[in-house]
Amino acid sequence: MGTEEQSENGGGVATASDTLSITDNRTGQQYEIPVEDGTIRTMALRDIKVSEDDFGLMGYDPAFLNTASTRSQIGYIDGDAGILEYRGYPIEQLCEKSTYLEVAYLLVHGQLPTQPQLDQWVHSITMHTFVHENVKKFVEGFRYDAHPMGMLLASTGALSTFYPDAPEVKDEAIRYSHVIRLIAKMPTLAAFAYRHNMGQPYVYPDNELDYPGNFLSMMYKMSEIKYEPDPRLSRALDVLFILHADHEQNCSTNAVRAVGSSQVDPYSAVAAGVAALYGPLHGGANEQALRMLRRVGSVDNIEDFLKGVKDGKEKLQGFGHRVYKNYDPRARIIRNHLDDVYEVTGKSPLLEIASELEKRAMDDEYFTSRKLYPNVDYYSGLIYEAMGLNAGMFPVMFAIPRTSGWISQWLEMIDDPEQKIARPRQIYTGARNRDYVPVGDRS
Ligand code: CMC
Repeated sequence: MGTEEQSENGGGVATASDTLSITDNRTGQQYEIPVEDGTIRTMALRDIKVSEDDFGLMGYDPAFLNTASTRSQIGYIDGDAGILEYRGYPIEQLCEKSTYLEVAYLLVHGQLPTQPQLDQWVHSITMHTFVHENVKKFVEGFRYDAHPMGMLLASTGALSTFYPDAPEVKDEAIRYSHVIRLIAKMPTLAAFAYRHNMGQPYVYPDNELDYPGNFLSMMYKMSEIKYEPDPRLSRALDVLFILHADHEQNCSTNAVRAVGSSQVDPYSAVAAGVAALYGPLHGGANEQALRMLRRVGSVDNIEDFLKGVKDGKEKLQGFGHRVYKNYDPRARIIRNHLDDVYEVTGKSPLLEIASELEKRAMDDEYFTSRKLYPNVDYYSGLIYEAMGLNAGMFPVMFAIPRTSGWISQWLEMIDDPEQKIARPRQIYTGARNRDYVPVGDRS
C-alpha cells in the first residue's frame, strides 16, 4: 500500500500510486499531484513555482477542451460509444417509455417520480403556464420580423423583473417555485414569439392539454373553440423535448452555470443559456442544416457540395460534435420519428437529400477519419419544417426542453460547496507600462 499524500492546493487525498509525478526542469524540483477520477486539480499546479513570488503554474485550456469544470450527476455521455444517459437512464428508454415532464422531474430531482409525485409535478407546471399580461405586451413591442430566439432571450430575462424574490437563490422553496415557473412558461414565451412573427394573435395556454399538446395549441390554434393536437405530432414533439433536455456541460449549460455562479436569479442565468444556444455552432445548427439542405437543392448537387466542404469552403451543418465521435444517439431517434411526423404532414423532398448526403459523407474518408457523424441537429430541422416552423424557431424548440437541463445544472451548482463564482485566468499577451499620449500628439 502506498502512503497517503495531500497536496496543499489540490485538497484531494490519494495513495502514492494515484499520483502524477512532475519534475519541473526549470528548477529540478519534484512534485506529486493526486490523481482522482482520472483528473488532477489544476490548483495543485499552483504549488509549482520558480521562485517565492512566482504566481505558480496554471493550466491553459482555451474552449475547455480538456478541463472538467464540475462534478455532476445529471447527464452522462460516452462520446466514443455514442451513449447518452440522464441520471443513469439511457436516452433510448426514456424516449420510448417516458414523457418530457417526467424526464424534467428526473433531471431536477435525480430520481424518477412515484405516481403521486408525478401528478403533483405535472399539476404544478400546468398551473404556471400563464405569463403576466405585460410580458405579452413586451413581446408585442418587437419588430414584426424579429428573430424568435432573440425574442425568447429577451423575454426570459424579462421574467426576472416580475418576481422580486427570484434573486433569493439560497432559499430552497423560493428557487423551486422558479424552477417550476421556468419549465412551465418557456413554451408560452416561445409560442408568443412564433405568433408574433406570423402576425397572429397570441394564444393563451390550455391547461387541459398535456405539455406538448398545449404547446401545439399555443402555436397553431386559430378560430376553433378547442385545439385538438394530433397525437402523433404531440408524441414526436415530446420525444424531441426529451432528447434535448440535457447534454451535460455544453456551451449553453456552461453559460448558465457561469452566469449563475454570480448568484444572479435563475431567469437571468437561463437567459444566458438561451443566448449561447442562439449561436450557429450550438442551437442554431439545425437552422443552418435546413438552410444547407435547401441550398443543396437536389441529390445531383451533393457531390459538388461535399467537395466544397472538403475544400474548407463551408461546414456540413448538423455533422460533427465536440464530444460524440460516433453517431449521435439523438440523431438516430429523431430520424426514426420523422416517418410518424411525415404521416401527418406529408413528406419533405429535403429528406431524400439529407439521407443521401449522410450516406455519401459516411462513405467519405474526410468525414470518417475525423469521426464526423450526424448530430442531433441534422434531422431535427426536418421535423420542425414539417410542423410548419420557420427556421428561426428551431433554436427556440431546443431552448424549451433544455430549460429543464439548464435549471437542474443550475440547482446542482448552487448546492455544490466546491463551486464559486466562475472566473478563469488568462495569459496576458498585451502591452504594459505605456504612458498616455494626448490625442493631438498621436501619429
Ligand atoms: N463539416 C466539415 N468539417 C468539419 C465539421 C463539419 N460539420 N465539423 C468539424 N469538421 C472538421 C474541422 O474542420 C476539423 O478539420 P481539420 O482537422 O482538418 O482542421 C476537424 O473536423 C475537427 O473539428 P473541430 O472544429 O476541431 O471540432 P470541434 O469539436 O471544435 O467542433 C462542432 C465541434 C460541433 C462545433 C463542429 O463539428 C461543427 O461546427 N459542426 C457543424 C455545426 C453543428 O452541427 N453544430 C451542432 C453541434 S450538436 C449541438 C449540441 O449538442 O448542442
